[in-house]
Amino acid sequence: MRKVMVAYGTRPEAIKMAPVVLALAESRHLEPVVVVTGQHRQMLDQVNGLFGIRPARDLDVIRPRQELHEVTQRVLAGMTEVLRAERPDAVLVQGDTTTTMVAALAAFYEKVPVVHLEAGLRTHDRYNPFPEEINRRLTSQLASLHLAPTSVSRDNLLRDGLDPSDVVVTGNTVIDALLDVVARELPLEDPALAVLDGRPAVLVTSHRRESWGEPMARTASAVARLAKEFPETVFLLPAHLNPTVREVLLPPLEGLANVVVTDPLSYSDFARAMAASSVLLTDSGGVQEEAPSLGKPVLVLRDNTERPEAVTAGTVRLVGTDERLVVESVSELLTDPAAYDAMARAVNPYGDGRAAPRCIAALEHFFGVGERLPEFAP
Ligand code: UD1
Ligand code: UDP
Repeated sequence: MRKVMVAYGTRPEAIKMAPVVLALAESRHLEPVVVVTGQHRQMLDQVNGLFGIRPARDLDVIRPRQELHEVTQRVLAGMTEVLRAERPDAVLVQGDTTTTMVAALAAFYEKVPVVHLEAGLRTHDRYNPFPEEINRRLTSQLASLHLAPTSVSRDNLLRDGLDPSDVVVTGNTVIDALLDVVARELPLEDPALAVLDGRPAVLVTSHRRESWGEPMARTASAVARLAKEFPETVFLLPAHLNPTVREVLLPPLEGLANVVVTDPLSYSDFARAMAASSVLLTDSGGVQEEAPSLGKPVLVLRDNTERPEAVTAGTVRLVGTDERLVVESVSELLTDPAAYDAMARAVNPYGDGRAAPRCIAALEHFFGVGERLPEFAP
């Protein structure tokens, strides 16, 4: 058996790794060893609990208001120790967080091959998103096998000069995870979601570093204005646990009866909330991938995106954080059925729910013990 160390640390990595961990456990040739860095804590444990994943090792690096260099140092030291103890045949990392880039670097230093899941996303703007654009470019340099979610991401990697035989288009495993939790029809966990019963709803999330401060304050003002203009509509805001986010985003929304702020929702509750909402207003990467397959229009609180596929398909629109533009864009979707219908189409540019088996086949092929599956095409 080849030992594949699956290393991750934040909520979105946990969601997107879960289908791969479960599929690795079924492989006849590969076995997973799950190492979490603990860059996130409650938001990470919540996801592992939902998918029944028990990490073999936990670096527990999280600190309140941690800075990038601190996470980097702690993950590098912790990963080096577990790599030396476990001696895996490959390390699998996902996405573009600090955990991703540093776990890949630690593996490279130990001469363990790196496999990158969700490879090839690019904005070509080094500070936007920060630090993710550079994290993923560095991870591409460190990796030996690149699992690209779409043909757009594959083409980005080929333009960077990577060998086409090292790149496989798998679809995004987030769609595997989403279809899995939706099919399980789990009972609602957060009682606050009862408010969605039959009322029109807008789901709001915001957490990105480049939005901290002014841009996030403008988002909060826009939501406050919308809540006053649309008193029958619920504005549901599951707030990220980062205090830097909460301090700016939440105070302007206090006292508004139709703004419901919750702690981070379990993934199954969040999937339910997306399905029950008519509009999603977000700066999240994962939500831009999930919502199109649920047929929900997404307005993205950013100036650019590394996920152009759903923009092309018409279900995702970049609105940035200009207060007036956010208010106008949400208002239009809430009041103009033609504008709404033009965006609310179920499309699946990111996956068909079969990304994890393609990843396992690509890994088996990498080790010379299996064949790749046909690539994902929407
Ligand atoms: C991180 C990733 C970002 C990803 C996001 C997903 C980096 C640099 N950033 O950003 O790419 O989109 O996760 O959410 O890798 N906290 C808790 N409990 C938790 C999680 C966070 O208390 O379970 C608080 C802590 O105070 C922590 C702070 O949030 O210091 C920030 O967490 P951090 O991982 O550094 O940054 P994120 O903004 O979450
Ligand atoms: N999500 C969740 N609970 C929440 C908010 C988001 O489970 O309260 C899920 C969401 O469905 C998506 C992922 O978390 O799969 C996105 O995480 P986040 O926005 O933190 O990170 P990003 O995708 O921007 O890196």
